[in-house]
Order: sequence, then C-alpha cells, then structure tokens
Amino acid sequence: MVVAGNPTALCSAYVTPLAWAEAQRPHLDELLIEQAHLEKKAAAAAVQFLFRLGDRTDAQKELSALAREELLHFERTLRVLASRGIVFRTLPPSPYAGQLKAVVAGTMPERLLDELWISACIEARSHERMGLLATALQPFAPEVAAFYADLCAAEARHAPLYAELAATLAPSAVVAARRQVIERREAEVLRQLPFAPRLHSGWPEVPGE
Ligand SMILES: [Fe+2]
Ligand SMILES: [Fe+2]
Repeated sequence: MVVAGNPTALCSAYVTPLAWAEAQRPHLDELLIEQAHLEKKAAAAAVQFLFRLGDRTDAQKELSALAREELLHFERTLRVLASRGIVFRTLPPSPYAGQLKAVVAGTMPERLLDELWISACIEARSHERMGLLATALQPFAPEVAAFYADLCAAEARHAPLYAELAATLAPSAVVAARRQVIERREAEVLRQLPFAPRLHSGWPEVPGE
C-alpha cells in the first residue's frame, strides 16, 4: 500500500489560527498529559482497525506498525512528562471525538468507511495543531516545541493511511460524499467547542473577523 498525500487537505473545512496554539502556552502541563492519553487512544484505534480489517492482508503490516508507533509516542510523551516533573493522571476527555462520531452511519459498510474517515480527520487535525504548537512554543519551551515537531511529522503519515483505506471500501462517489459529511462535521464541532487545554479544543470564529 502506498501512503501519500497532503494530510492538511483531509480537514480543510476549518483552519486553526496560530492564536489557538499561542493561547495554549500557559497550559502546557495539562496539554502534555492529554497528549499521552491521545497517543494511547491512537494505538488502541489502530489495533481495532487491525481486527476489523482482518481480511485485508495488504493493510495488516501498516496498521500493526501504526499501533506500535503510537505506543512509542505514548512512551516518549511519558518521558517528556517525567523530565518536566509532571505526574501522569487521568483527565476528562475532550468532547471532540464523541461529537464527531455522532454522524457515523448506522449500517455497514458505510459505518466502517465513516470511522476510517474520522480517524483520518483526527490524525490530520493533530498534524495541523502539532505544527502550530511547534511554532508557538519555540521561543518559550524549545524542547517541547521540538517534541511536537517530531510528532507532527509522524501524523503526516498516519492521516493518509486511514484515508487510503477508506477510499477502498466503496465506489468513489460514496467515499467522496462520506468524506464531505465528516469534514463538515469536524469543522462544525471545532467552531462550537470552547477553548481548553486539549489538542482538539475549539477556537470559535468571530463573525466578520
Ligand atoms: Fe502519535
Ligand atoms: Fe497518529
């Protein structure tokens, strides 16, 4: 399977301003704790798809490698926490993923298609926001900025993998229609969510700005 493409194009219905990342500067401890949780969830999602796409021998190696890479990200994030004296703890999850999944189709195969698109979208949004954090944090916390820059490069590969898997599940017109539904929903969710120390928090657009 060839994995290529521009990850940002997978969530282009909403563009996060740099101001969102700048506003995260005072909340780095909580943001990093959430990052550890997100990496663990990303590993679990990859393992779930590994089983749900069990008959897709072409995807097994990529999904297994993806799950392992997300666990390595989890361990790396734990090391960043330890180096900064931050104790890993549970956190209330962001409502982002749950609100995104509200539009998932109720029947197969569209359901699986939607869930793959959602994973592509989440990875693409993570890529976009880690890039912004790398920029915004550089003058204040260069080690954390470098950490986000490294993760950002990995997310650039993850989003197209899910998108390419989704593209194989249905005729192209169906795939495109479901992609549009998920992308629009994701933009709507981000516009409605409040700002919070979470990677997928909101930054509501002010009309006329
Ligand atoms: Fe990751
Ligand atoms: Fe990822």
